[in-house]
Amino acid sequence: MNPLIFLLTTIFLIQLRNEVDASVTRHYTFNITLKNVTRLCHTKTIVTVNGKFPGPRIVAREGDRLLVKVINNVSNNITIHWHGIRQLRTGWSDGPSYITQCPIQTGQSFVYNFTIVGQRGTLWWHAHVSWLRATLYGPIVILPKLGVSYPFAKPYKEVPIIFGEWFNADIEAIINQAMQTGGGPNVSEAYTINGLPGPLYNCSKKDTYKLRVKPGKTYLLRIINAALNDELFFAIANHTFTIVDVDAVYVKPFKSDTILISPGQTTNVLLKTKSNYPNAKFYMMAQPYVTGLGTFDNSTVAGVIEYESPSKNFPKGLPLFKPTLPNLNDTSFATNFSNKQLSLANNQFPANVPQKIDKHLFFTVGLGTNPCDKNQTCQGPINGTKFSASINNISFIQPTTALLQAHFFGKSAGVYTSDFPYSPQNWFNYSGNPPNNTNVGNGTKLLVLNFNTSVELVIQDTSIIGVESHPLHLHGFNFFVVGRGFGNYNPSNDSKNFNLVDPVERNTIGVPTGGWVAIRFLADNPGVWFMHCHLEVHTSWGLKMAWLVLDGDLPNQKLIPPPADLPKC
Ligand code: C2O
Repeated sequence: MNPLIFLLTTIFLIQLRNEVDASVTRHYTFNITLKNVTRLCHTKTIVTVNGKFPGPRIVAREGDRLLVKVINNVSNNITIHWHGIRQLRTGWSDGPSYITQCPIQTGQSFVYNFTIVGQRGTLWWHAHVSWLRATLYGPIVILPKLGVSYPFAKPYKEVPIIFGEWFNADIEAIINQAMQTGGGPNVSEAYTINGLPGPLYNCSKKDTYKLRVKPGKTYLLRIINAALNDELFFAIANHTFTIVDVDAVYVKPFKSDTILISPGQTTNVLLKTKSNYPNAKFYMMAQPYVTGLGTFDNSTVAGVIEYESPSKNFPKGLPLFKPTLPNLNDTSFATNFSNKQLSLANNQFPANVPQKIDKHLFFTVGLGTNPCDKNQTCQGPINGTKFSASINNISFIQPTTALLQAHFFGKSAGVYTSDFPYSPQNWFNYSGNPPNNTNVGNGTKLLVLNFNTSVELVIQDTSIIGVESHPLHLHGFNFFVVGRGFGNYNPSNDSKNFNLVDPVERNTIGVPTGGWVAIRFLADNPGVWFMHCHLEVHTSWGLKMAWLVLDGDLPNQKLIPPPADLPKC
């Protein structure tokens, strides 16, 4: 071929490919290693990715494929979950230990291989085995496809803000001890912003997160709550947020001085800085929203917004302003804030809310007890009991082999049963006086759905041991939050008020304390999908279950076969 024609053809083909699909494959290596880290004058050895705390940022575009090789160099078992990534037909890469995979053992590795389809915004990754996510977490930044813009003016800069919890003691020792005694685990010593507790804690001033900003610019804060057990209020003194995206789905922009963010959730906000250099510095602060009865970390993390100095003689020692955060138990703030969240729902980003429902399901969630083992003294809520938590009164027992493999290879006998109930076996006044018997049942039960079943699920908080807000997270899907309320859900009245037009779409939702939330989703993703409270202590106590979505008839409706390097138990 004439070299010129060859060249032109090649350029043409490359052009064509770019227009059709500019997505790329991005490779990351996660070396799981130990590292000594000091906070609050306390040095401890933590498990990290690549020696970083918090872990490295993953940046990709919608449509990209990610190949993340995780190499386990520590003695703990490891899995990584890509929280909120839909994992269409790639459930093997979802990450929850003993649900979709056996953990990666010491000296082993596994390549997580998945494509980001139809999502853009902020998500995050974290370990999904025991409580290791306390130190193994980091942001996933998903930019729009090349050439596609945000549905808001392009921000001057984008900044991840990731909240965590710092424990002076070894995290695995804390949860192991709690599981043995049946009591509540020790609470954290501090909250952190990007790994730093900030100046309000003893011996912590130098570990303060500082965001240097220019005046009159718009910053996109990608806020993630990676705390183990606490929902958090967050605000910046004298500044207002415009919320534009939650859980990697655009929302109708709305303004708020404070946000509430549950563990597992992400919130993208625009922060417009003041138009000239203010004679002040501003704290950003986060504090918990608490509805339960147990002990909690009642402390405050602070970081600083600092306007870059316009000249060398920018005055030192400026006054410092603190934001006013809602009260610890401000449920009315929580309610108002949730009510403001609505899907953008325009032509480009429609809200595909299932309108016709195949399966109506009703799950109760809450705490309960399990009897103490013989010859043991337990520290549960009632004498001689251990704390337990359940969905439809079933406290989930973690299997010793992964559910997805058991399903795929037809070896479910002795691993799980397919009889998770569609509603609780016994009715009681869920949000009123609790029954005397606080005991829960136990089991590894799955709820099986045919491919493309449209589901409406009402999740009802119970008052057993005490009402509490539970951030429920569903793997493998986004869902639409069509309704919420307090007290007991009333099917005939409450369903009349459902929003089926522009409800918020997300992957983690706070079930109101002493109330209920109704969600809808289309089961269009074959595989085994975990659902659990994202308060880690509740997950440990059994507030979790799994769905099994069967393959559809078409080839592109089937789970792909397992990768060759999938870890074995
Ligand atoms: Cu972010 Cu199963 O969790």
